[in-house]
Amino acid sequence: MKTRRIADLDVSSIGLGCMPMSIEGRPDEARSIATIHAALDEGVTLFDTADSYHLYADEVGHNESLIAKAIASWGGDASNVLVATKGGHLRPGDGTWYVDGRPEYLKQAAEASLKRLGGDAIGLYQFHRPDPEVPFADSVGAIRDLLDAGTIRLAGISNVNPEQIRLAQEILGGRLASVQNEFSPAFRSSEPEIELCDELDIAFLSYSPLGGIASAAALGDRFEPFQQVADARGVSPQVVCLAWHLAKSPRVIPIPGASRPESIRDSVQAADVTLSAEELAALDGA
Ligand SMILES: NC(=O)c1ccc[n+]([C@@H]2O[C@H](COP(=O)([O-])OP(=O)(O)OC[C@H]3O[C@@H](n4cnc5c(N)ncnc54)[C@H](OP(=O)(O)O)[C@@H]3O)[C@@H](O)[C@H]2O)c1
Repeated sequence: MKTRRIADLDVSSIGLGCMPMSIEGRPDEARSIATIHAALDEGVTLFDTADSYHLYADEVGHNESLIAKAIASWGGDASNVLVATKGGHLRPGDGTWYVDGRPEYLKQAAEASLKRLGGDAIGLYQFHRPDPEVPFADSVGAIRDLLDAGTIRLAGISNVNPEQIRLAQEILGGRLASVQNEFSPAFRSSEPEIELCDELDIAFLSYSPLGGIASAAALGDRFEPFQQVADARGVSPQVVCLAWHLAKSPRVIPIPGASRPESIRDSVQAADVTLSAEELAALDGA
């Protein structure tokens, strides 16, 4: 498995987004564990989660606990696995989502995530989404305090614009490890953040890289050039899409979601696909 860097860590160039295993439409636990084990078997060492990936009000952290259980029950050496979680986004259990970026809330949410994930510190902790009621600098200040206290090893932010990336980098004293924004053939407006991450040497984790849970299967129908390149190469349009992400910048690490072992086994093939300039031009124009 080819690797890319998040701060000073090497992680697989294709990560696994674990959200589909804990929200609406989630599979039973056995299939989820099999999906995470399939990823580990393929050499995936980056797993993206959040405390808010759950359905009911009384199961906050469902996804974090699932990942911890799957890693513990996997037979191999997981010492190089990075679990990236998030805080600041919540679900009351009625299908909706809301934000809470208060520093005191973020600190207790991180402590709770650490308990569920186990170990001495959270590998990568990402502030999930800016809270319009709380100054962004205050929320990121809490992330800095968590870094300083050793509760988290690396710090990231998500759903941010270039101005917020620069501000976070300043508040964290140059220690911003990653930015996680939506980016896919259907959602391309994160190009400025990708360029800035390139400039500042920060990892960019593309979320919903295949267009999101509801649209991922239809990628080849919606964006014909992705199907054409896939047919010519004998791979899936999802693999072509992930290779297109990787070609955007050496800092980009897509985190495709999966709830079936077959999905992640297919997706990891993208790490070994290098698209030509002609193919990339066709895909960019799709
Ligand atoms: N920071 C944020 O605010 C935020 C927001 C949304 C998502 N995320 C993160 O980003 C991750 C990925 O986003 P997402 O799950 O929303 O959308 P996505 O990755 O675009 O699509 C996920 C769906 O793609 C399917 N899939 C994956 N690989 C495939 C393949 N090779 N061939 C065919 N289908 C394939 C999966 O199907 P199966 O389920 O059938 O396996 C899965 O349901 C999430 O899991 C989460 O960790 C973060």
